[in-house]
Amino acid sequence: MNATPTKRLRLAVLLTGSGTTLENLFVQREAGRLPADIVFVVSSRADAYGLKRAEKYGVPSAVIERKKFILPEEFSEAIFKALESHKPDLVCLAGFLSLLQIPPAYQHRVINIHPALLPSFGGKGYYGNKVHEAVLAQGCKVTGCTVHFVDNEYDHGAIIAQRAVEVREGDTVETLAERVQEAEREVYPEVIRLYAAGRLKPDRRAVRILPQIG
Ligand code: GAR
Repeated sequence: MNATPTKRLRLAVLLTGSGTTLENLFVQREAGRLPADIVFVVSSRADAYGLKRAEKYGVPSAVIERKKFILPEEFSEAIFKALESHKPDLVCLAGFLSLLQIPPAYQHRVINIHPALLPSFGGKGYYGNKVHEAVLAQGCKVTGCTVHFVDNEYDHGAIIAQRAVEVREGDTVETLAERVQEAEREVYPEVIRLYAAGRLKPDRRAVRILPQIG
């Protein structure tokens, strides 16, 4: 992972639900703002609307249901085995709600976007609107989103990028979620561009962003 010029990435996307994050990646790609092709989508639920979005864009998908496995290790093994033949450079979690065990070959090759400023409001049970509910219940004045490398714990891997979002008087879960997702739609593609350019350098708990060359 060094600062090499941007190469076109093969992306695999893992999701569980509606797939608005996947949709944004498709939109960004079509607009020429993502140096990447989405080559494969995996859903951990058979009824995820994200699967329909993959179909709309002609991208192959698979369903690997979390409920069919007891241990996260077995589930993860099935996921990474399914990815193998698609040869992804980078795996993007997009509203994917299950714990993974990352094989050594995928270390620093799996990223996630979380709808809060980690390490606050992260971990098991903190996903989607539950995060925004908790932020409002705490009376926080600022929230945001975080992109991080994925390790074997929920929302725990090294932080790559964060965007702060102001919590406004009178915000509801819906209004806050909308503004956080607006930030997500910018920062996730931005991180993918940095990854493609070889500008992310993990350094223990941190990730350094290398300067642009040329
Ligand atoms: C996003 O807000 C994302 O941050 C969140 O799910 C939403 C997207 O779902 N992810 C998590 O909460 C992960 N812990 P979608 O792409 O299915 O619409």
